Amino acid sequence: MKIVMVGSGYVGLVSGACFADFGHDIVCVDKQASKIEALNRGEIPIFEPGLSELVRSNAAAGRLSFTTDLSGPVADADAVFIAVGTPSRRGDGFADLSYVYAAAREIALALRGYTVIVTKSTVPVGTGDEVERIIRELRPDAEFSVVSNPEFLREGAAIEDFKRPDRIVIGAEEERARTVMADVYRPLYLNSAPILNTSRRTAELTKYAANAFLATKITFINEMADLCEQVGANVQDVARGMGLDNRIGGKFLHAGPGYGGSCFPKDTLALIKTAQDYGTPARIVETVAAVNDQRKRAMGRKVVAACGGAVRGKTIAVLGLTFKPNTDDMRDAPSLAIVAALLDGGAKIRAFDPEGMEQAKAALPGEVHYCSDAYDCVTGADAAVIVTEWNIFRALDLGRVKTLMKEPVLVDLRNVYRAEQVRAQGFHYDDIGRGTVSAASKTKEHAA
Ligand SMILES: NC(=O)c1ccc[n+]([C@@H]2O[C@H](COP(=O)([O-])OP(=O)(O)OC[C@H]3O[C@@H](n4cnc5c(N)ncnc54)[C@H](O)[C@@H]3O)[C@@H](O)[C@H]2O)c1
Repeated sequence: MKIVMVGSGYVGLVSGACFADFGHDIVCVDKQASKIEALNRGEIPIFEPGLSELVRSNAAAGRLSFTTDLSGPVADADAVFIAVGTPSRRGDGFADLSYVYAAAREIALALRGYTVIVTKSTVPVGTGDEVERIIRELRPDAEFSVVSNPEFLREGAAIEDFKRPDRIVIGAEEERARTVMADVYRPLYLNSAPILNTSRRTAELTKYAANAFLATKITFINEMADLCEQVGANVQDVARGMGLDNRIGGKFLHAGPGYGGSCFPKDTLALIKTAQDYGTPARIVETVAAVNDQRKRAMGRKVVAACGGAVRGKTIAVLGLTFKPNTDDMRDAPSLAIVAALLDGGAKIRAFDPEGMEQAKAALPGEVHYCSDAYDCVTGADAAVIVTEWNIFRALDLGRVKTLMKEPVLVDLRNVYRAEQVRAQGFHYDDIGRGTVSAASKTKEHAA
């Protein structure tokens, strides 16, 4: 099939490369000329494991090409996917749909013959109706259908997720559009990926509901972690005890510094706004977003507390900047709020991330000294804080770290180390919710 991917970011590029690998004929389009030039030179503008090989092999086989001009490819296409960004709109937090609508207008002008336009971007309920209206207004003569096909891939495991999805959700209003979508995803039917056929609005909402639920799970275990710290319980054991119950499941029950990234923060906010607009406020999600927001900065205060209550003039080594490992994505990363809180407290920041340094330089506030590796980062530091659980931070030579640091203080916001092991090496070690009995709970015991 001939498919055009409008937007060649994390989702567009991964989806395009995977569809090409299934044997379809794919053109990836992007407005950013520098991105397309890089792709045409064989350079991949983002870090995603396995992506560069997949892009190179499919481009070499002639199934995957890149351009800034969508008109020719759209005219020939069976399906055109919209995979542009839908960030939070400044001011009100609603999803900014200007990129989606701009893409719809451009697509409209290029349509020739029956074409299915597929929204893969995460968009609020009713966006498909608006995309259809825009295209119909510009091209009353055109033969087309608008379908919602939300994407559930995770950065860092995007190719595996795309090729072996838990489910594919297709929201369509017309049978002939479903037939085209069935052909697009046929290679995955063969892998027996469950296909969920729904109405367009249902598909749009399913994506938000799924992300909001996952964000809720993370926030729930984070609150349990805080309680564990007060009562002297271990959140990892609590999570395991909960997760072994099949009704709950163990995934997304890892306590940490709060969720971040390009999806959960903006998608929870957009769902909250939609629900308010329709007069049915999503109060649980509202609370989740508020709790998570406060948590990120609270992690900065946790580091301050580990440094004896003040960081003015002290040097803090920040290990990991991206919102999770195996990506270079800095969007809404907890590190942004943590570094800001530490800078506000008067700290000097040294930072290292294996893949995220370029994006971090544009995103992090204030003055940050960027280091060449983890050991360089901790050199001369009064405290080190693990913010992202990259594998290389899981097996640090702690003896070496201790000799390099000014003070052996380690704050592990991802619980990657065993407390006894680190403390045995002479560190002051603080983690998330693993049974450090607080002064408050001791007082309660005494009172009892
Ligand atoms: N990143 C993820 O993990 C993920 C997962 C699932 C869903 N999503 C959703 O997918 C959508 C895309 O996310 P992303 O992370 O790939 O964004 P991104 O910012 O990485 O990529 C978007 C790309 O679209 C391009 N673009 C914008 N307008 C264009 C136009 N008119 N024509 C051509 N190109 C245009 C931009 O230049 C950019 O390269 C969002 O709605 C997001 O919520 C993202």
